[in-house]
Amino acid sequence: QPVYLSDYQPPAYRVTHTELTFDLDPAATRVKARLLIERHAKADANAPLVLNGEHLKLISLSIDATPLNESAYQVDAETLSIANVPERFVLESEVEIAPQENTALEGLYQSNGMYCTQCEAEGFRRITFYPDRPDVMATFKVTVIGDQQREPVLLANGNPLERGELEGGRHFVTWEDPHPKPCYLFALVAGNLHSVEDHFTTMSGREVTLQVWVEQENLDKTEHAMASLKRAMVWDEQAYGREYDLDLFMIVAVNDFNMGAMENKGLNIFNSAAVLTHPHTATDAAFQNVEGIVAHEYFHNWSGNRVTCRDWFQLSLKEGFTVFRDQCFSADTNSAPVKRIQDVSFFRTAQFAEDAGPTAHPIRPDHFIEITNFYTLTIYEKGAEVVRMLRNLVGEENFRRGSDLYFERFDGQAVTIEDFVGCMAETSGEDLSQFMRWYSQAGTPDIDAHGEYDYVHGEYHLTLRQRTPATPGQPDKLPLHIPVRMGLVGTKSGQDLTLTLNGEKIGKDAVIHLRDDEQTFVFTDVAEAPVPSLLREFSAPVKLHFPYSREDLAFLLTHDSDGFNRWDAGQRLALLALDDLIAAHRNSVEKVMDSRVVDAFKTLLNGPISDKAVLAEMLTLPSEAYIAEQQPIVDVDAIHAAREFVRQSLALALREEFVAIYEANVTEEPYAPTPEQIAQRSLKNVALSYLMSIEDEQGLALCEAQFSADHNMTDVRQALTLLVHSDRDDLASPALKSFGEKWAHDPLVMDQWFTIQVSRPQGDVLERVKYLMQHPAFSLKNPNKVRALIGAFAQNRVNFHRLDGQGYQLLADVVIELNRLNPEIAARLITPLTRWQRFDETRQVLMRSQLERIRQQPLSPNVYEVVEKALA
Ligand code: ARG
Ligand code: ZN
Repeated sequence: QPVYLSDYQPPAYRVTHTELTFDLDPAATRVKARLLIERHAKADANAPLVLNGEHLKLISLSIDATPLNESAYQVDAETLSIANVPERFVLESEVEIAPQENTALEGLYQSNGMYCTQCEAEGFRRITFYPDRPDVMATFKVTVIGDQQREPVLLANGNPLERGELEGGRHFVTWEDPHPKPCYLFALVAGNLHSVEDHFTTMSGREVTLQVWVEQENLDKTEHAMASLKRAMVWDEQAYGREYDLDLFMIVAVNDFNMGAMENKGLNIFNSAAVLTHPHTATDAAFQNVEGIVAHEYFHNWSGNRVTCRDWFQLSLKEGFTVFRDQCFSADTNSAPVKRIQDVSFFRTAQFAEDAGPTAHPIRPDHFIEITNFYTLTIYEKGAEVVRMLRNLVGEENFRRGSDLYFERFDGQAVTIEDFVGCMAETSGEDLSQFMRWYSQAGTPDIDAHGEYDYVHGEYHLTLRQRTPATPGQPDKLPLHIPVRMGLVGTKSGQDLTLTLNGEKIGKDAVIHLRDDEQTFVFTDVAEAPVPSLLREFSAPVKLHFPYSREDLAFLLTHDSDGFNRWDAGQRLALLALDDLIAAHRNSVEKVMDSRVVDAFKTLLNGPISDKAVLAEMLTLPSEAYIAEQQPIVDVDAIHAAREFVRQSLALALREEFVAIYEANVTEEPYAPTPEQIAQRSLKNVALSYLMSIEDEQGLALCEAQFSADHNMTDVRQALTLLVHSDRDDLASPALKSFGEKWAHDPLVMDQWFTIQVSRPQGDVLERVKYLMQHPAFSLKNPNKVRALIGAFAQNRVNFHRLDGQGYQLLADVVIELNRLNPEIAARLITPLTRWQRFDETRQVLMRSQLERIRQQPLSPNVYEVVEKALA
């Protein structure tokens, strides 16, 4: 039952205007729809009208006010078809739905007693019969009727038009959205909500009211989201010339939400975790995450809503572009190099793994069974990397002219990735045809590079060879157009040398274009032996292999002019040392610490500190997950042991330095999520984590003091995590207990409390997970809780992968139960099991047997699709 991109047909019927009336009731909400429908000029006059609809109880149906009798239409589990319809008509329907029974959290559902919706991608069909596809765009008028007491607030897209009281303690509000939109952008919210309000004047002078709607107890957690929204609105005007287009912009926080947030026109709905912050409840990372997501959803107003996708295969058209936009916004607002380092380090860990596994797919997939399985790192983050490459290829100015052209030409339309790239080609004159392969080819290209310095002629020969490995359904790959930003750093001068290629001076930092399977670039007038700095700022989403010596890496770590590559050199150096230690562990040989790593860290710690946030990143070792990515077969225990050994060796060798860094960065200032303070805290907390790796008196004392000082959640959470992950149960238990009691009323803090406990590396966590699943604050119906407890446990490398297979079994049990409750979340939860090929025989067998066990169940299409791919 997959859908194929190549089968795309334009819709035979358009809906030009949609009127909806909701009479809310938890068990039996009535939805009346009045649709103005027109046959497409090119469509066959006999084409039947086919509407999507699932889990709907049909009450009545009429065309142009004439009720249809049952022989005039057909309903099955997924569609409603009417054989003979006029060229232009009004279709009226009434259906009944049960929001309180909707545990899938798609369509109209209840969260904490309030009503809310999630329609992207195909949730609207659970609300009413409709052509549920993004290329059908209509203006909407929506009336919401609710109980005055229980639902004092009734929201929908656009501007409020009319409100009034009704009999029986009911009331209504009518909303109108003048911008034609696909139904996936429809939203409704009703409940006992409170708002914080602010105002924004757009560059053309439109006055916009901004509201953040939350439950009463969260009113003190909205400030940062509101401030972020205003910054995002200014940024989009300046960076893209895009301004807001309604009088009202609303954000609503809900506790039960499958993803982060949703860009419904004028009424963005957020997972409360992606919007609520308070210094006492949210970490710096959470503050930054909220800022990025608020911006992301706001930016969708243009890249997604005004210009939308023709079909769901084009999902990356809006998501890749919008992620790129939010990344640039966050880079401009915070530390740009740190933003890049964090994004890339996540990307290389998680997206590379996806691209190398059984669910690998191109940025534009050519088929799918269930589209919600495709809200992936590939569509989002690799999609953003491809837009970033495009900007670098055409240049910033052409990129901006290209985006202007795109927004103007396609305003109000549902378009394709070709339309977007076409604008960039048009404004720049570049030939982007080879570049388009990035959208259709899955897999991460490997680039094997080597270089030789020719002293006699003063030449540097750089050879780059590219190869993209086979992925499911794509055995053979074509060469991609890969922009490689680079420099040659002189080993004598320590400076970037001027690059001369084919007789032309191209600067000290330039982009070379790899288009063939293999190419050699000859740089002339190279006066001294250089070390190449390649793929600066991660200029393409590839794996770059260059035979750097540890001396080369130590040199780049201190001399590369590109901050990103300085950091990367440190990571590569650490990885080489870790490799040795992993081998030593496996062979039961005594581990010896590489002194070059210690020296490099010493230089960093004693050198002048220009950017504390960057330094904190440079002092952070590659994660176990990233180290695992580099290994042919993942040995979780050896990786853990090797990394701990490096941490402890560094802590022992550089104890004084870490204490000094810690003390220099303690501050009594009131908490603010400013880049300066965040940088200080991250540096201080990295130092603390080294000190805690050896658990000496001083480290423990600092950690306990930081926990008890209770200054802000960033510091408290770090201290609690370090205590819980240490061997000092005597200190950890009381801290956990007091934290859990103090925050029992706050679900977002309890999520953190769960995560801290189940990510403990010591091997006894499984029982704890089972115990916590019975905790009153836990619920399988709440996706945040599932992620915080079960999802986090499945990231716990040593414990999840325990050799008796019980970790896998527990995950499979949860997947099977969630498959009935919430298929989207169930399908996502399987991911760690789909990576079975990466492990040793024993674990492979255990993981596969759990996948097989899941396959024995009656499955949702979501889980079915993932499990089939994983076992194929
Ligand atoms: N468009 C939303 C965003 O990225 C996410 C949509 C969620 N869709 C889903 N099926 N859960 O901002
Ligand atoms: Zn998005």
